[in-house]
Order: sequence, then C-alpha cells, then structure tokens
Amino acid sequence: MTPLPKLALSLTAFALAAPALAEEVNIYSYRQPELIKPLTDAFTAETGIAVNVAYLEKGMVERLQAEGKRSPADLIFTVDISRLNAAVQAGLTQPVTSETLTANVPDIYHDPEGHWWGLTTRARIVYASKTRVPEGEVTTYEDLADPKWKGRICTRSGTNAYNVALTSAAIYHHGEEVAKAWLEGLKQNLARKPQGNDRAQVKAIWAGECDIAIGNTYYMGQMLADPEQKEWADSVNVLFPVFEGAGTHVNISGVAMTKAAPNKDNALKMMEFLTSPQAQEIYAHANYEYPIAPGTEADALVTSWGSFEADPVNLMDLARLRDEALKLTETVDFDG
Ligand SMILES: [Fe+2]
Repeated sequence: MTPLPKLALSLTAFALAAPALAEEVNIYSYRQPELIKPLTDAFTAETGIAVNVAYLEKGMVERLQAEGKRSPADLIFTVDISRLNAAVQAGLTQPVTSETLTANVPDIYHDPEGHWWGLTTRARIVYASKTRVPEGEVTTYEDLADPKWKGRICTRSGTNAYNVALTSAAIYHHGEEVAKAWLEGLKQNLARKPQGNDRAQVKAIWAGECDIAIGNTYYMGQMLADPEQKEWADSVNVLFPVFEGAGTHVNISGVAMTKAAPNKDNALKMMEFLTSPQAQEIYAHANYEYPIAPGTEADALVTSWGSFEADPVNLMDLARLRDEALKLTETVDFDG
C-alpha cells in the first residue's frame, strides 16, 4: 500500500475547487468609487467574476513597484495619458492584444503595443464669458496667444498634467520654438497667476476676473450638477478650439494590465467589458465624458455643448513629449 492515490485524490479535489475561488479581478484605481462601482457591478452581474477595487489618491506606481511580482493588482484605472505612460515606462504593465479591444478602441486612443487602452475621452476646451466674448471669437489654441486677450485669460498651473498634455500637443504640431512663443504669448495674456483647478477658472469668469479660461469638458457637467457652481457654469459658453490644421485636444481615461496580474484572463474580460457599448455609456455618462466605442453616444447634456473634431494624434506621441513640455513650461516661467 502506498499513500500516493490518496494524495492524488486530494490534489484533484483542490484543483477542482480552485477555479471557483479564483474568479476575481483586482483593480487599483485613481478614479472615484462613484464612477467605477456601476461598472464593476455590471461586470460581476454579467460574468459572475468578483471585482476588488483599491481606490488610491497617489503613489500607485510606487505601490506596484514595492509589491513587485506579488502584487494582487490585475488592472490599473487612471486618467491622463501621462499617468498611464508613467506606469508603462516603469515596466509595471504588460501588452494586451485582443480583437475586441482593437475593434472598440480607436487606434489613436491605445498604445500601438497594447500596454494602455483608452476608455473615455475629455476635450480640453475654452470656457468663454457669455456676456464679454462674442460667439466665434475663439477658434484655435494658437489664438490664445493673440494680444487681443491681454489680461483676459485664466488657467490652472502650467505644470498640471492637463496643461502639460496641451503643451505637448502644441510642440507636436508646431515644434518647440513655436510652442515656446505660444506659451509665452499665453502667459502674457493671463489675468492672474495660474492657480486653482479648472472650475476655479470658470468661477473667475463668473466673478469678472477674466473672460476666457482653459478647462476640461466634464467640469461643465459637474458644475451644472452642483447648486453652488451652477451659476459659474451658466455664465460661460463651451468653445472647442482646434490646433491649426489638426483638431481639438483630447485626453483619456484608460486602463492597463499590470505585469504581475495574477488573474490575467479575468482582467482581459474586464478590459473587453469596459470597451463594450453598454459599459462605455455607463462610464462616460457618469462623469460627462465621451465614450469611444463605435456606435456609442455621449450624454445628451454633453452633446448639447456642441460637436468637435478630435486631434488625430496618437496620444503616445504626446506622452513622449511630456518631459519636453514640462521643461518648456518651466523655461518660460509660466506660473511665475
Ligand atoms: Fe479632472
């Protein structure tokens, strides 16, 4: 007699039980629970796969680095191409290829190698005073450097990720020298030193401190939904400037699979689910963003602000210019 058959039996029993226990996917998210929970609930309802989310405010890259191969995280959720690219550059992600993802996510909104995938977009636009800025007065980003705007523009810090991406786009389209002159011109036109968040700029228009401001589209929806901020939003029009010869600057919220992903199959299922029309509209509508899958539509409020042609640049090209853009911002002492 040998104990082997018994051992084999217990191993088999374990192997059969294991998959049921492993049906989960773990997410590290910089995005807030109110945006993510409806998605994870819908995913679990459809697939039976449990979703665990750690909501982080900072330090995601450092945490993944510290955890290394033992990290429980399968996916990371964040906004801004620079943050996605930071995780990629730190070697914390893995490339993902999937026909579903390729079909649902336009080429310009995913890494050609598959390390990051966009899920929603937001445009960086101009908020203009309804009373002090005639319609059609701002049509290009280049125009923001025109001296006619002297003392009339408000913006948040030039080193904020949203503005760095915009400056990266200026460099991409015009080269560093022209982009530098543009940033200097824009600085000359500021009504006050860069400060506050995007909504604070709209408040400043409402208060008469400036006439136009740079901001992301979804803040219009957020302000309209806030009793205190609604007046600020009501005082402005949303204008969609373009880079000359290109389009309106957009950035993404997106997802990447971690290099260590312990639940790779479930993680891929989650990624594919997130690009499905159903999930796309849940996600985009929750924060007044734009869904990107074919056949999906933005919320009626969002479409009421107008339509635009997005800049056709692949966001990876902007991510590559991030350091140069940041340096340029510091060189012209944009915030000074
Ligand atoms: Fe934001």
